[in-house]
Amino acid sequence: MSTEAAMSTDATASRGVIALLHGPNLNLLGDREPEIYGTTTLADHIATARETAERLGFSLEDQQSNQEGVLVDAIHAARGRCVAIIINPGAFTHYSWAIHDALGAFDGVVVELHLSNPNAREPWRHTSVVAPVATGTIAGFGAHGYPLAVYAVGRALGAVTLGG
Ligand code: DQA
Repeated sequence: MSTEAAMSTDATASRGVIALLHGPNLNLLGDREPEIYGTTTLADHIATARETAERLGFSLEDQQSNQEGVLVDAIHAARGRCVAIIINPGAFTHYSWAIHDALGAFDGVVVELHLSNPNAREPWRHTSVVAPVATGTIAGFGAHGYPLAVYAVGRALGAVTLGG
């Protein structure tokens, strides 16, 4: 059975809001180290994520910031309002205990998302302080990570069935 055939979705329900958050330097996607991060812009990644989310019956809000505190506030603002957070914290992944704590106080699904596979890169990228408070992590699949992350949310919330 193909993957497409194995997926069933119900986009008729209003399944809630997904917050898609991006950390520092990700506003430069498309231009920044394209050999690592690809040539797709942040706006295009967001459009792909939104398209997938809406197909599964979710709506999607997005925010990018180079400031740790702005991301902490965005996570707080999602509490009680959003069913899930998909976050690419950029370099904050590796040392922001403030983002760790904020995500720990969020009671929905949390997907940690990376374009590259940090574990295959420099040793300082091998630690994620976000991973312990994430439902799961998607890394290393480039632009495909966006629909995968939305499907992961859908799977966790019963909006999509993957496989048998
Ligand atoms: C990244 C990986 C991080 O190590 C890095 O600091 C980034 C991007 C990724 O998407 O692969 O800014 O989160």
